[in-house]
Amino acid sequence: MLLPIYIYGHPLLRKESQDITPDYPDLKKFIDDLYQTMEEADGVGLAAPQVGKNIRIFVVDGSAFADDDPACADFRKVFINAHILERTGDAVSRSEGCLSVPGIHEEVWRPDIIRIRYRDEAWNEHEEVFSDTKAWIIQHEYDHLDGKLFTDHLSPLKKKLLKNKLNNISLGKFKTAYRVILPK
Ligand code: NI
Repeated sequence: MLLPIYIYGHPLLRKESQDITPDYPDLKKFIDDLYQTMEEADGVGLAAPQVGKNIRIFVVDGSAFADDDPACADFRKVFINAHILERTGDAVSRSEGCLSVPGIHEEVWRPDIIRIRYRDEAWNEHEEVFSDTKAWIIQHEYDHLDGKLFTDHLSPLKKKLLKNKLNNISLGKFKTAYRVILPK
């Protein structure tokens, strides 16, 4: 089932998300819906808060970056109860966008290596190191679990320059191919 995506300015995007227990109702269906919604919207990732649930789950699909980073070809995963334990490596800047912030792309600096603990669909716990494109994708989605958006990483000047654009997004002045929920 396709889920509507919550848009910049909605308070649910700013709440810190909580861990879940394995008996979370209809977890498998929710994860399927996340994958489907991400694919339909051509997203590289989608986090639960973006569909209105403040729980620590996100899905990623890095296959669109396989040409630049072959390690991403089969990088399609769900992260449940995700917690980044460490961020290391050099800071790297890349152009980012977000399904919740349609039409805006800006350079964001992020560390290049992360160590993360998470559970998979079978509820097995993993602690894993990711780097390069994978680390970048994960950190963007992970920010959503902490109520952060990529625009929070921009310089004060850049934020000021984007203010009107962001206001217009909150007001629904944009076009997307996917269903959205605007802030009230
Ligand atoms: Ni995003």
